[in-house]
Amino acid sequence: MTETFSGSFTQQEPIPEEAVEAALAVLRHGRLHRYNLARGELGETALLEQEFAAQVGAKYCLAVASGGYALATALRAVGVRPGDPVLTNAFTLAPVPGSIASVGARPVFVGVTENLTIDLEDLAAKAGQARVLMLSHMRGHLCDMDRLMAICDAAGITVIEDCAHTMGAAWNGVPSGRQGAVGCYSCQTYKHVNSGEGGLLVTDDEEIAARAVMLSGSYMLYERHLAAPGPEVFERIKYHTPNISGRMDNLRAAILRPQLRALDTQVARWNERYRRIEAGLRGTPGLTVIERPEAETYVGSSIQFLLLDWAADKVQQVLRRCAARGVELKWFGAPEPVGFTSRYDSWRYAESAPMPASDRVLAGIVDMRVPLTFSLEDCDLIARIIRAEVGTVYQS
Ligand SMILES: Cc1ncc(COP(=O)(O)O)c(C=O)c1O
Repeated sequence: MTETFSGSFTQQEPIPEEAVEAALAVLRHGRLHRYNLARGELGETALLEQEFAAQVGAKYCLAVASGGYALATALRAVGVRPGDPVLTNAFTLAPVPGSIASVGARPVFVGVTENLTIDLEDLAAKAGQARVLMLSHMRGHLCDMDRLMAICDAAGITVIEDCAHTMGAAWNGVPSGRQGAVGCYSCQTYKHVNSGEGGLLVTDDEEIAARAVMLSGSYMLYERHLAAPGPEVFERIKYHTPNISGRMDNLRAAILRPQLRALDTQVARWNERYRRIEAGLRGTPGLTVIERPEAETYVGSSIQFLLLDWAADKVQQVLRRCAARGVELKWFGAPEPVGFTSRYDSWRYAESAPMPASDRVLAGIVDMRVPLTFSLEDCDLIARIIRAEVGTVYQS
């Protein structure tokens, strides 16, 4: 009998009851705007910022409308100007180069290794070309962060971390987003906490923090923040920083606060599922599992493997055969992007030179979401299906 899987790869868990209750309380009092506070009220958004800052050990935190908005705000706050080059990953999601383009700056792409992390040799070679790196921890893979920071520190490069896929992850125990000058997170439905849309930005730098608050549209109400620098810092920047509204609201913040408290538990559940799939795939002829470094604490909310040096039509056969059995795989090697699978040469608003070593890796990357609605048995079944179909096509 041929096994098939009938679950949904896009179905997340329901919002926890505690978060539903908190959201209803906001809806009932009606003060959704973050600065609309009753006497003595601190507000869900300001509390969320305070709690997330404490959770990752940052001095300052700002909640915003999306992860992409956090990235663009970080670029502006560190002083990126129109026309500036900004180093970034050749393998990432469209909002990352998009945030660079949104401030009129110019992405300079850095290659990807077989570990799916930024190519540090290529980064070292290009370090002289820009003074900012927008580092994307794409699909949750952390590079050797010690080496990366050494390269960037030596070259005087400011690092902004895109932690859309690494909220809850760490490198040598340091939470993802805390090595660079700024860490940016997404709270969009497919990430590790779900408010539909939303973003968080953390930093220890008081001027970056103050600029980000002003940029997000604080008017002159920055004293209502609980994880922002003192008014004297705002005095220095407030008339030189434009308002580019992108605030978070109290409804989303209310939904997020209980989810952040449960993050560690959720991470453990994701990793249980990830390891079951990984174990099921390991040893499949023709398929390369991505080995995770010892220093990396990851969040297995998606899994990738490589069909390295396979002919494109064979990869497509695997995708079709798996899809016919209910397993939805994404491929970063297709000539045209499908959904989120664009890559550096798809972003034609940004110039790029061919990167043959990266192209080889990109052509082999197969990706799958791992929502928490999957049971461990589902994960075993999915791995059996992939293993069988990869095996069949590989042998043909
Ligand atoms: C790698 C990466 N960076 C940034 C973002 C931007 O996040 P948002 O959708 O919240 O703008 C995403 C979201 O899809 C992403 O996958």
